[in-house]
Amino acid sequence: RQCASSLESSLTQAVVGSHAKILRSQVIPITAAITTKINARHLSSIQHNPRWRASGVLDSYVAQPARPISLRQLVFFGGRNLDEKKIIDSANYVRTELPLRIAHRIRDMQKLPYVVVTNRHLSEVYELYYKAFESFRRIPEIKSLEDNEKFCEIVKTALQEHLTVIPSLAMGVLECNDLVPSHELDRFMNVILRSRISRRVIAEQHLALTDTFNSPFHFPDSVSNQPHDFVGEVFLRCNAREVVEQVGKHTLELAREANGSTSPIPEIQIEGRLDTTFPYIPSHLEYIIGELLRNSIQATIDHHSQSSTSLPPIKILICHTKQHIIFRVSDQGGGIPIAELAHLWSFAKGPRAINYLQNFSQVPKMAATLQELQKTAHTHSRRESMDTSLSRLTSRPPNLRLGMGLPMSRVYAEYWAGSLELHSLDGYGTDVFLQVSKLGNKCEQLNLDGV
Ligand code: COI
Repeated sequence: RQCASSLESSLTQAVVGSHAKILRSQVIPITAAITTKINARHLSSIQHNPRWRASGVLDSYVAQPARPISLRQLVFFGGRNLDEKKIIDSANYVRTELPLRIAHRIRDMQKLPYVVVTNRHLSEVYELYYKAFESFRRIPEIKSLEDNEKFCEIVKTALQEHLTVIPSLAMGVLECNDLVPSHELDRFMNVILRSRISRRVIAEQHLALTDTFNSPFHFPDSVSNQPHDFVGEVFLRCNAREVVEQVGKHTLELAREANGSTSPIPEIQIEGRLDTTFPYIPSHLEYIIGELLRNSIQATIDHHSQSSTSLPPIKILICHTKQHIIFRVSDQGGGIPIAELAHLWSFAKGPRAINYLQNFSQVPKMAATLQELQKTAHTHSRRESMDTSLSRLTSRPPNLRLGMGLPMSRVYAEYWAGSLELHSLDGYGTDVFLQVSKLGNKCEQLNLDGV
C-alpha cells in the first residue's frame, strides 16, 4: 500500500498543468491495482464469500424505505400506560426496522469501488452488517413477553459486537482516501454513521422500555398520571445549562490532567437563557458539547502558551427561538489555520485525519465514544452481568485525540434535524453554533438530502 501511494504521489508531483489531471486519472487505477494485488489473499476470501454476491433478499429490503421516527414518537411508545402491547409493538418495530436500515447500508458498501470495499477494516464492518442483517431478518414476529426477552438478548449482543464499527470505518476510509475522491468517502461516512446512530437509538430505546416495564417500581395506573423525566433513553427536561456545566466540569478535569495541574486552564462562562429545557437524548448532546469544549479549551491553552496572564474564558451563550435551542461556543484560541478549514468536516482528508490514523492504530479495539461504551455497559449491568468481551473493550483514553470530533459531532447534530456550524477568525478565535430542535417533533434525518 505504501508503495502504491508513494508511487501515486511522486508521479502526480512530476506532472504540471492540465496534464496532471489526466495522468492522475490513470495513476489511481494503477495504484489501486497494486493495492489490490497486495491484498490478493484477502480478496480471494471475499470473492468466495456468498455474502458478496448479489442477493434477491437484500434487494427486496433495499426496495423498502426506512420508517424514521421522532423523539416525540419514541416518547409516545413508552410514555403513559406502558403495557404489554406497547412493548410488543416496539419490539416488532425494531425487529423489522433494523434489517431494513442495515440492508440500505450494505447496498451502499456494495456500490463502493471494489478495491475500497475489500479494504480490511471496511470488509470487517461489511461482514458485521451482513451477519446482523441475516440474524434480524430471520427473527419471527414477537408475540409475547417471552419472545421479547429472547429478542432483547439478540439486540444486546449486536450492540456490543458493533462497538468497534466507528474506528474500523474511520481507519478504512483513511486507508482508501487516495483511491476515491474524499468528498465521496465523506458522504459515505456521513450516511453510514447517521444510520448507525439511528439503529442504536431504536435498539437502546426498546431495551430501556423493556427494563422500565419489568421494573418492580413500574405501576401502570400511577404512571398514567405522572409525567416522567425519562422515557427510555429520552430525557424530557434536558436543561441546556446543566448539560454544559456538567460536561464543562469533566472536560476541564481532562484538560488539567493532559496539561499538568500547574498550567493555567480557561474558565467556562455560561450566559443567556439558562432555564431552557427540551426533550433530547442526553448522551448525544454530551458528546457534541464535550467535543466542542475540548477543542476550545485546548486551542486556548495552546494559543496563549507564551502568555503569563490568565487565559481568556470560553463563553457559551444559550438562546432559543420557538423551534430551536442555539448554543454558541466562543473561544479566543487563535482560530483555525486557513489550510485546515477546507478539511474541517472531513473524515477522509486533512491533518486531523492523519491524527486519527496514527491514534486509532495505537488503540485498535475500542469504542470511539465514551458515551457509547457507557451506554452499552449500563445496558448490560442493568440486565445482567457484563459479558467478558465487553469488559475487555476500552473506550478511547480521554486525552487521546482522534481528530474526528467535529465531523462526528455534526453527524449527531444533524441526525435530529439540528446543525453545527463554525466560524473562525484566523489569529483570534472560533465561534461554533450548535442548533437543536426544541420540540422533539422532527424525525430522524437518515439521508443527507433530508428525506
Ligand atoms: C450498529 O451499532 O452499527 C448497529 O447496527 C447496532 C444494531 C445492530 C443493534
